[in-house]
Amino acid sequence: MKSAPPNLAWLNLPNMPLPIKALFIGYLLVIGVGLCMAGLQIMLTHGMADGKVGLSVDDIVYSYYGDRSGSKLASKLNGSMIDKAPLEVRQDIIKWAQQGAPESQWEPHFKGVFAQHCIMCHSQIPGIPNFTKFEEVKKAAATNQGATISGLTRVSHIHLFGISFIFFFIGFIFSFAVNIPKKLKIIAIAFPFAFLLIDVLSWWLTKLSPNFAWFTIIGGIGYSIASSGMWVISMYQMLVLARNGKTYGNAWEQDL
Ligand code: HEC
Repeated sequence: MKSAPPNLAWLNLPNMPLPIKALFIGYLLVIGVGLCMAGLQIMLTHGMADGKVGLSVDDIVYSYYGDRSGSKLASKLNGSMIDKAPLEVRQDIIKWAQQGAPESQWEPHFKGVFAQHCIMCHSQIPGIPNFTKFEEVKKAAATNQGATISGLTRVSHIHLFGISFIFFFIGFIFSFAVNIPKKLKIIAIAFPFAFLLIDVLSWWLTKLSPNFAWFTIIGGIGYSIASSGMWVISMYQMLVLARNGKTYGNAWEQDL
């Protein structure tokens, strides 16, 4: 006995039964707010990394590659600590910092230099580093190496797992959209995943070389556009296109 093929004429966003529509719309609304918050958070954390408002390539370089040109020690000795020691002494300290502040020269030489010029404050005033201790001098002499490997590993796996879930559901809902050429639909669904990989990979590459910071921008803009496009079309079809009372048929079989 052959059973009749199921009637799947309702299997599309405009004609979806109301309970499943409520699920899809609820999800898209919350995810939409969430994505806006994520954008805001990126602006507030990374956007200010270089000290200027707004996200730029410099911010990305600063966050992942760091600023390897100088240390805090060097910048302070040319800045607010400029009057604390004569030029030769400051240059001597900066040169030592640039060599990575090797400990071998601490006891025989630099301990005395800091004792003479710095520790009357930097061992007395609370809240500023205590320069009688080599470790604290070493810390101030370190260059900013940007993101750490452990930090990158943590953020990468959270992003890959978390965001791919978001893209999975956005893409799944969008797969029921009607009147979209099949090729375009496939590309729109696949794009966010590809851009997500580019984005995460670019953080690691930027840690190696600042030239890769552009990939972070490309990846981020790429998946924002692809996912917001799917978001808008899905919402439009469920809320607006649904009102004209037309039956659109099985969206998964539609072949435009
Ligand atoms: C008269 C007191 C005084 C002397 C002497 C002094 N400092 Fe400072 N230092 C400060 C104060 C106060 C701050 C915090 C305010 C600031 O960052 O300008 C500071 C901050 C710093 C910082 C930044 C610390 C941080 O983690 O933010 C460095 C580095 C530094 N001093 C280096 C030196 C060196 C090197 C010397 C000796 C050549 C020196 N200072 C001598 C008072 C002093």
